[in-house]
Amino acid sequence: MREQMKQAEPGSYSKVQIGVDYYPEHWEEAMWEPDIKLMKETGVKVVRVAEFAWSRLEPVEGRFDFAWLDRALDLFHAYGIQVVIGTPTTTPPRWLTTACPDVLPVFADGSVYHPGVRGHRCYNSASLRTYGSRIIEALARRYSSHPAVIGWQTDNEFGMLDCHCDSCNRAFRSWVQAKYSTLERLNSEWGTVVWSGEYSSWEELTVPYGGSPHQNPSLLLDFQRFQWDSCIHFQRRQTEILRAVCPERFITHNFHSYPQRLDMHGLAEDLDVASFDYYPNPAPQKQATAPYSGALSLDLTRGLKRRNFWIMEQLSGPPGCWFPMWRTPHPGLIRAYAWQAIARGADTVVHFRWRSAAAGAEQFWHGLIDHSNVPGRRFAEFAQLCGEVNALAPLLEGTEVTSNAAILYSHEQMAALRIQPQADGLDYYDNIKQYHRALTKLGISCDVIDWRQPLEGYKLAIVPSLYLHDEEAAQRLESFAGNGGTVILTNRSGVKNMNNICLLQPLPGLFSRAAGVTVAEYDPVGHDIHMLVDAAGESFECSQWCDILQPEEAEPVAWYGDDFFAGSPAVTVNRFGAGKVYYIGTHASEAYWLKLLGGIAAEAGLAAFPDLPDGVQAFTRTGEKGELLFLLNLSRGTQSIGLDKHYRSALSGSLVSGIVELSPFAVEILETGV
Ligand code: GLA
Ligand code: ZN
Repeated sequence: MREQMKQAEPGSYSKVQIGVDYYPEHWEEAMWEPDIKLMKETGVKVVRVAEFAWSRLEPVEGRFDFAWLDRALDLFHAYGIQVVIGTPTTTPPRWLTTACPDVLPVFADGSVYHPGVRGHRCYNSASLRTYGSRIIEALARRYSSHPAVIGWQTDNEFGMLDCHCDSCNRAFRSWVQAKYSTLERLNSEWGTVVWSGEYSSWEELTVPYGGSPHQNPSLLLDFQRFQWDSCIHFQRRQTEILRAVCPERFITHNFHSYPQRLDMHGLAEDLDVASFDYYPNPAPQKQATAPYSGALSLDLTRGLKRRNFWIMEQLSGPPGCWFPMWRTPHPGLIRAYAWQAIARGADTVVHFRWRSAAAGAEQFWHGLIDHSNVPGRRFAEFAQLCGEVNALAPLLEGTEVTSNAAILYSHEQMAALRIQPQADGLDYYDNIKQYHRALTKLGISCDVIDWRQPLEGYKLAIVPSLYLHDEEAAQRLESFAGNGGTVILTNRSGVKNMNNICLLQPLPGLFSRAAGVTVAEYDPVGHDIHMLVDAAGESFECSQWCDILQPEEAEPVAWYGDDFFAGSPAVTVNRFGAGKVYYIGTHASEAYWLKLLGGIAAEAGLAAFPDLPDGVQAFTRTGEKGELLFLLNLSRGTQSIGLDKHYRSALSGSLVSGIVELSPFAVEILETGV
């Protein structure tokens, strides 16, 4: 049924524009029109509303009140501002949680996640399904043809709840039954014989109440998978209603704070466009990392649907409330990070929020306008951004990020590696951050995609720790390498089957065919620093893990420099068909990755922008009319960069070549072919 439903036309979500998050229900109605008028004058084109407004939309059970939202939407429309409506299911109202306590999630120890802030909703609650579907359908009917409404956001920032309520317990049992059919099969696939964990009847099977990681790892992994599916089904009920009632509008969801334990790729399948809530930490001491982890978040969001995306919440002031307040964004930072998002494929960037909340739990997560209610320095910078984006929109629309390199990301690997941490400091996502940071520093554009996605069109695939694996994964990498691709595999690959059971075969399991190497022994060295020496005799630090490698067809390209395994191969490369497969048996320092990737980029013909100074990033968006090169200085220092072509600045119109000086948080957008 889902497939037959009409998807929104891309035109409705591929506009390059700036928006704001606005909460009409938080302000006196007399403030709405002056606010909206100022939005219009500032160049704001879109707002998101209502994602927490259930108690105002349905103040008591079954009595809907849309009059206030009608008036707000009509005002937005009168000023030419478009609207995305959020479904309010993350904030079930008190009348609902009081009448139907099954709406509330239950922690493993039996305590209840009480209402009052938000997120107090179990994805498997039958009452939430009934009442949530009803309010969504009513909203969709009311606004399906409202001229201001262009799209919908499902819920708000899905997260994993680890709910242990009775509904989840029953649903988990059915999920496991559907997956394994018989108890015999379940007992064998989970290896429950160990420590007398065998199930003799389905009633004995429950969610893991112990909450300890020291439980059957196959049960824990399947409990995660069950929760991913619960969230996907929870969202799917919403997208089915919205597509049935309001087929012309797009549907998105605002993902946040990576790494997320969600199956974001599964959730994104049901969306037209993915969104991300982008809050880079503005602290000076974060400037060596925030621009890079931010670039990874943006690339990961683009990878969810493998196309351009939205930012649904963008940093606008000092964040706070959930922790002591962070530093205020330095002059230029708000604008520069918004342009970074656009450079990495965001089309619409919606800033959170128009004005800081005067009440509620989040008074000090600052918006564009402070409690003074006087638009100040940050607002002026935002206004500049709006002007620039509106001027450049015709040039930017239809352009996309194209990459020759991909990092394969897997929430299943991340979950399994968290269920059983392998060594001190070995963190799946932190390691991805390092590989991605090295690519960004080399100016190599990278997509971050689900590990099961096709790899056609790429020249390089970085494949971190495929700890869980199967024949399909091994064959896909073999065919990519066989056809000329370069694959980089890392340690902790090929360890287990997909049910989290260790396999009785040499590491890296099925990947040893393509890697041409096996692991003779390993040492989980954790935080101990070891040495790696490459073929040129250069030494690098390594840590976390040391696989002592035994090359079969592969050639060693780096060796350990110390401990009892000094002289043993640590990194190998194997020619496989027309391509190459690297195997990195340890966690090498960023310096090693920069050298390795720099060499691979030169050899494989990857477009790169070497010699970028610290904090400077270079990204390209390409369209039918040509390329736009974004140079971003995401640091508090002045930086300079040498260009080997002549460009015209799309922002200032001036010709640019040779050495370009970039002041703190400067942005240049350069057109080629001048
Ligand atoms: C998230 C939420 C917003 C807001 C911000 C700031 O991104 O979606 O409603 O709370 O965090 O904390
Ligand atoms: Zn539950």
